[in-house]
Amino acid sequence: MKDAEKLNIVIVGTGYVGLTTGVALGYIGHRVTCVDKDRAIIEKLERGISTIYEPGLEELITDDDGAVSFTDDLLSHLPGADIVIIAVGTPAKSNGDTDLSYVEAVAREIGRAMDPKKPPVIVNKSTVPIGTARRVETVIKEELEKRGESCCFSVASNPEFLREGNALHDTLYPDRIVVGAEDMQALNLIRQMYAPILEQIFIPPQAVPRPEGYNLPALVTTSPTSAELIKYTANSFLAMKISFINEFAAIAEKVGADITEVAKGIGLDRRIGPGFLNAGVGWGGSCFPKDVRSILFTAGQYNCDLQMVQAALEVNYRQKVRVIEKLQGMLKVIRGSTVGVLGLAFKPNTDDIRESPAIEVIRMLLDMGARVKVYDPVAENKYRQTFPDQDVVYCRTVEEAARDSDALVILTDWEEFSHLPWPEIGSLMNRQVLVDGRNMLDAEELAGCGFKYSGIGR
Ligand code: UDX
Repeated sequence: MKDAEKLNIVIVGTGYVGLTTGVALGYIGHRVTCVDKDRAIIEKLERGISTIYEPGLEELITDDDGAVSFTDDLLSHLPGADIVIIAVGTPAKSNGDTDLSYVEAVAREIGRAMDPKKPPVIVNKSTVPIGTARRVETVIKEELEKRGESCCFSVASNPEFLREGNALHDTLYPDRIVVGAEDMQALNLIRQMYAPILEQIFIPPQAVPRPEGYNLPALVTTSPTSAELIKYTANSFLAMKISFINEFAAIAEKVGADITEVAKGIGLDRRIGPGFLNAGVGWGGSCFPKDVRSILFTAGQYNCDLQMVQAALEVNYRQKVRVIEKLQGMLKVIRGSTVGVLGLAFKPNTDDIRESPAIEVIRMLLDMGARVKVYDPVAENKYRQTFPDQDVVYCRTVEEAARDSDALVILTDWEEFSHLPWPEIGSLMNRQVLVDGRNMLDAEELAGCGFKYSGIGR
């Protein structure tokens, strides 16, 4: 990248979105400052240690030629920034509304310290309810007024669509980039920021190669409000797609069909598409559950009934109950049984357990008097920290979880679960019952090893 094309970018928040975006923007050539008020996070990042588990990220943090720096001091880095990206957390409130206090706090600091003679473009990347771009603008103006200043500046909405575990891949090779901006100048600067990605003029990092046959991403420009709604619509649709296949998994079981065959049969229709049709214990994570509840809350404020989104949420809860029902069907009595849970993360390649189906399934099992053993290749620590008082037995291997268990339940589709020595594992168990909550295994093969096997919708 030529020096004239390099932008000074400040990105606030070093979660999955902030850190990945910051590191990726540094990699493609910009000068990036990642800000987090948590000093411990910054110290770790300065030492080249990634604070989130994300394939390829640490290599880029240590190998960025000084393009990315880390600090807990936002105020002194604001003057001189061309773009300030807000990527802080937007947790859910108990009523489903979104807590915007972190976003507003950042907006206040921006208003306090930005240079009114050279205002940066503010970019909202946090997933925020409709109208937040305007709210951020108002807060910044208030702070400028307190300083006796005023200036023209722009707040754009630029939602991210990255998946955890594929965060760098999705950032460097997106399907599309959505920018909601009111003025052309802001839009052009954001386009300049993404130019190397839009044109794919960077050398792919070794750990994150460019996918074969990858087409250049589209730049979708909209109003800020449309951009905000695009994020919620996309996540609601994907959550609904999974719940849809899960609903049909129930009928597939009743009529004796195999939902994986059904999913393949419909997914090849280009209008439907093959993605997000894996039936299982349902969706979790930091986005789908929160975003679905948040858009339902917004819809409620407008007296607008999002029936399909509401149903997606209900079907998703039912999937976890289905696991318990399957165990009841096969074990008969849960109380006093030992159940080995394989997988705590909400999906593979992450240690994130937020809204993971495992949380609810384990809670139900414990409530019903089961002894629960758990194994996860990376998420154990997060789970321990989140539920320090929970009475579960942590295991280092699948074999340890299987020993003397009456049943095993797969809740996360970790790659290692797809090629386990099932005959040996079966020989360690008290009873050979297996609920495959992610449809990872071959039913016939497991039955051949003496297992009573049950997938979801097969
Ligand atoms: C999601 C969106 O994909 C992403 O665009 C957005 O920015 C953030 O939310 P993420 O939460 O990282 O990303 O995970 P994703 O891979 O989408 O999976 C979400 C959940 O759905 C996981 O619990 C996963 O196990 C589940 N899932 C996914 C299914 O049950 N079946 C599927 O076919 C696909």
